Amino acid sequence: MSQDYQVPDLSKWSFARTNPQTVDQRVRLLEELLPKIESIAEICCGDCTQQWQAYRQRLPIRAFQGLDIEPGIVDFNRRHGIRCICGDALDKEVLRQFLAFEVIFFGPPLSVGCDGYQLLAFREVVPSCGDFVRVLLGDLGYVGTLVCICPKTTTIGDITWLHHQIQSHCQDFGLRLIHYTYSTLTGSGEETEVRLKYTELWFSSVLAEQWEVRESKPI
Ligand SMILES: C[S@@+](CC[C@H](N)C(=O)[O-])C[C@H]1O[C@@H](n2cnc3c(N)ncnc32)[C@H](O)[C@@H]1O
Repeated sequence: MSQDYQVPDLSKWSFARTNPQTVDQRVRLLEELLPKIESIAEICCGDCTQQWQAYRQRLPIRAFQGLDIEPGIVDFNRRHGIRCICGDALDKEVLRQFLAFEVIFFGPPLSVGCDGYQLLAFREVVPSCGDFVRVLLGDLGYVGTLVCICPKTTTIGDITWLHHQIQSHCQDFGLRLIHYTYSTLTGSGEETEVRLKYTELWFSSVLAEQWEVRESKPI
């Protein structure tokens, strides 16, 4: 495993999990933008039991598949009945197994050791969005919708840079939505003040380019 990759401390499990309010916001966006969606994949998935349950309950999903480099997380997901592959998000042959999925969430670690405290800037995240789109779009020619989950401090300059990278690989991919997700819950369900959690960039070859900016706050 590369020295640069951040993997969670398995005794602090909640940091490998997305909070339920962000999951709910993602489902709402999928219901609105891609109501007939049948397949979703998550790269750098962490514990994806919550997403998987929400997708199955609220969307017409037939296939879900995760990918994580940490074997303990992969085992955990599999024990919960989730298809999950162990491998590196930048490995072309591994990623080839995800090309048929209509939506791919790319959610790399956004803090040191996935601890949720020492947050990384967009340019510090590894594996980076730039490297990931080079393999997925440039090498493999993926067609569909790619949601890059980025740090909350991601700037419009970072977004413009990534958009440029993506278009250099595939002109058909545009930026549909910049989504700021807010939450009052941690991954382990503890209450906090309303906080911006992530900047999600919804790139797609099937949705029109709009550069729409939206904020979702917990209901
Ligand atoms: C923060 S967690 C999952 C977050 C979740 N995807 C989300 O949407 O919030 C990030 C996961 O990425 C995994 N990871 C780190 N480097 C990776 C790599 N190169 N390939 C695949 N998974 C990786 C870690 O083991 C960790 O479980």
